[in-house]
Amino acid sequence: MNRKSLHMVGVWILVQGGSAMKYAEFTNKVAIVTGASRGIGRAVAEVLIESGANVLLVSQHAATLQETVRALSLLGPGQAVAEACTIDGSEETASMIVHAAVSLWGRLDYMVNAAGGARVATVMGANWNNWHEDFDVKFWGYLALMRAAIPFMKRSGDGVVVNLVGVAGKDPNPQLAIASAVNGALRAVTKALADEVSPDHIRLINVNPGSTETDLLHKMAESYAQIRHTAVDVVLDDMRRRGPLGRLPTALDVANVVCFLLSDGAALVTGTSVDIDGGVHRGLA
Ligand SMILES: NC(=O)c1ccc[n+]([C@@H]2O[C@H](COP(=O)([O-])OP(=O)(O)OC[C@H]3O[C@@H](n4cnc5c(N)ncnc54)[C@H](OP(=O)(O)O)[C@@H]3O)[C@@H](O)[C@H]2O)c1
Repeated sequence: MNRKSLHMVGVWILVQGGSAMKYAEFTNKVAIVTGASRGIGRAVAEVLIESGANVLLVSQHAATLQETVRALSLLGPGQAVAEACTIDGSEETASMIVHAAVSLWGRLDYMVNAAGGARVATVMGANWNNWHEDFDVKFWGYLALMRAAIPFMKRSGDGVVVNLVGVAGKDPNPQLAIASAVNGALRAVTKALADEVSPDHIRLINVNPGSTETDLLHKMAESYAQIRHTAVDVVLDDMRRRGPLGRLPTALDVANVVCFLLSDGAALVTGTSVDIDGGVHRGLA
């Protein structure tokens, strides 16, 4: 990435709603961030690297990922390394990712699961393959990575996992039927696992972004626009108007909360979930 495009990254951060927090305790720590080529995962990796953590960035498409790694490497002091692979829910893939980080830097401190998306489909409208594919990436994928990461966190003496889940796990949305089920299941398993590994000083937290200004939001808006026979901009305007705080979260808004949860400031936060939705969710839990 040249100076001009670096400057563009700076402008993007500014437009996306302010500067990132920095954390001294991330220096020389090791993190894996999945879904790191774009959106929320990329913003989390940026904060970690700027704070001095070494980060293995995972996503599918090698060219986009390499471009992200080039840009983030310039933000150092932390190192950025790319691992292009498809998270498929298998233990083998999860183990390969975790071993890649540990063989590079000798330890593992933080795991951020952000790979995946949310298909606009109802329970009956989605086909059976859709159900399996989305559970493979997000439910089995996150779970396999948590299970692969935890033995190495035990060796490090502590560790933190943050999962990007979603508010549909609390308010099941008929048009996001699979995402609602995946997110609900992740909430349950994360709570159970947090109890299991608390004696090892390992924390696990889910974050629930509301509709967030990333490529995924635009993809979802395209699907809603088709269903409602309207323009994508109409759908996006409608979503943006819904937030009591007057705007939707950006990737950086979400990343700032994720990195706080990874930090020592959140040392007693585990087994719970945090909404970052500008106040859209109405329930008390
Ligand atoms: N944005 C929202 O409104 C919103 C709301 C609630 C929850 N979330 C959750 O937050 C997380 C991040 O979303 P986002 O908005 O940042 O999405 P995004 O901008 O679409 O980015 C998704 C990232 O995940 C990667 N990815 C997707 N499938 C993968 C797979 N099978 N294996 C490896 N990498 C994969 C993508 O890489 P490739 O391009 O290489 O596939 C990309 O880096 C997701 O779990 C999403 O469900 C988002």
